[in-house]
Amino acid sequence: MTDPSHSGDCFITGEWMSGEGAPFQKTCPANGDVVWTGRAASGAQVGQAVKAARAAFETWGRTEQVARQVVLERYAEELRLRKEAMALAISRDMGKLLKEARTEVDTMVAKVAVSIKAQADRAGEHSLPADFGHLDLTHRPHGVMAVFGPYNFPGHLPNGHIVPALLAGNTCVFKASELAPSVAPLMMDAFRAAGLPPGCVNLVQGGRETGGDLLAADINGLLFTGSEHTGRMFHRFLAGRPEVILALEMGGNNPLIVWDSADAEAAADIAIQSAYLTTGQRCSCARRLILPKGRFGDQVLESIVDRARRLSIGPWNDDTAFMGPLVSAHAAAQAVAFQNKLIAGGARAILPLEQRDKNLGFVSAGVVDMSDAPPMDEEMFGPLLQVYRADDIDQAITLANATRFGLAGGLVCDDLPTWDLVRNRLRAGILNLNRPTVGASGQMPFGGPGASGNFRPGAYYAADYCAWPQASQVAPSSLG
Ligand code: NAD
Ligand code: SIN
Repeated sequence: MTDPSHSGDCFITGEWMSGEGAPFQKTCPANGDVVWTGRAASGAQVGQAVKAARAAFETWGRTEQVARQVVLERYAEELRLRKEAMALAISRDMGKLLKEARTEVDTMVAKVAVSIKAQADRAGEHSLPADFGHLDLTHRPHGVMAVFGPYNFPGHLPNGHIVPALLAGNTCVFKASELAPSVAPLMMDAFRAAGLPPGCVNLVQGGRETGGDLLAADINGLLFTGSEHTGRMFHRFLAGRPEVILALEMGGNNPLIVWDSADAEAAADIAIQSAYLTTGQRCSCARRLILPKGRFGDQVLESIVDRARRLSIGPWNDDTAFMGPLVSAHAAAQAVAFQNKLIAGGARAILPLEQRDKNLGFVSAGVVDMSDAPPMDEEMFGPLLQVYRADDIDQAITLANATRFGLAGGLVCDDLPTWDLVRNRLRAGILNLNRPTVGASGQMPFGGPGASGNFRPGAYYAADYCAWPQASQVAPSSLG
């Protein structure tokens, strides 16, 4: 489906307009084609978008919950109609395989029903009897939410903030990722076609400067998914402003422990999915693999290296590929540089991650042995797995926890007491048994402690940060 209405860079008060800031473009990392050209929003346009959201909040914030729900259900339908166009936009911008981009759009559609359930379950209205009358609990929206998303799920992750925020009665200004700007306009078209009142969602395109303008604007909340570095900067910027809601979903340095009661081949398969899905560009990807010393660990490692060497790599429209390119040639060069830094510190490349063409984003999957290297507790957002070996499960858990992050983790093992031990001690918000670390369930909260965020988990728990509770004691008469 195409939208003849969609022309312009910014969507403000339900109208498209050209950006008045710096021009920028995005090239496809699979072939170098220019896939998006436009202009960033100027500071004045960001201000205009926030003003539009503020004005729309006056009505939308007081609209009946059920009426807001109906609009969002129509939005889900409009997204469904645009599925192929949205998937193509995502794939061309960031090189994500088309099959995965289609799944991303499906997740965006499903987010509406999940968020309606979560809003009723975790927020909503509740009443309890009391000896003087009753207790009423209701939830109120905050106001204008600034929404920032990462490039790796340029539709799904901002959508995962916007949908619960709107359901709760907030209005939004969304700054799309400059590395994947093409899907956001299609989302705006879907909102407009669904009948969302003008100003409830506004879009500004641009990079850091535009982001900085939005951050400094008169907002009531900042809903962010992205890197630790940016999240910390936002946190510092908003220090001393507790009245601004700040929800931070950041990165991870996720461990996967494979322990020796597991099947070696099945374990290797789970490790491959965990480390290399979406070319390692998922915040939940396993970055560190912890194996027992000895024969079983050797077998698992051999199988992983063998499988990783044979992974098929291709452009986003290659149905047989397992990995597409990284988001840009620059990201590919950075991945190689990260590996080189590990090697300089004493790591050994068992299977080197290599950039295939310096002008494109393709890299091969890599495996490095970290036995003789000090750990480097940084997130590497690409297909490189760092391997550690442990004498026993205690040491494995200690190694797994040797990170300031806490997003995701996993255990592959057929022994349930070992799972109980790991589950009690491993510090990770997403912790799976015999499942890849990636592919989180929409029915559950998503987020983790430490440098992975600020304890405001998203997904099913997004309803929590989108509304504030109002608790009332209600006596039917002043006479008591
Ligand atoms: P990023 O932090 O570089 O960018 C995210 C957004 O912030 C973009 O819109 C960007 O323009 C904006 N931004 C960046 N620096 C800014 C600045 N100085 N001022 C104003 N705005 C700024 O993240 P990314 O590279 O796009 O995404 C990858 C990161 O996202 C990884 O670290 C990954 O782990 C993380 N991520 C986290 C989750 C999660 O749920 N925890 C999910 C997916 C991705
Ligand atoms: C991500 O948000 O980057 C990954 C989520 C997932 O794989 O479930």
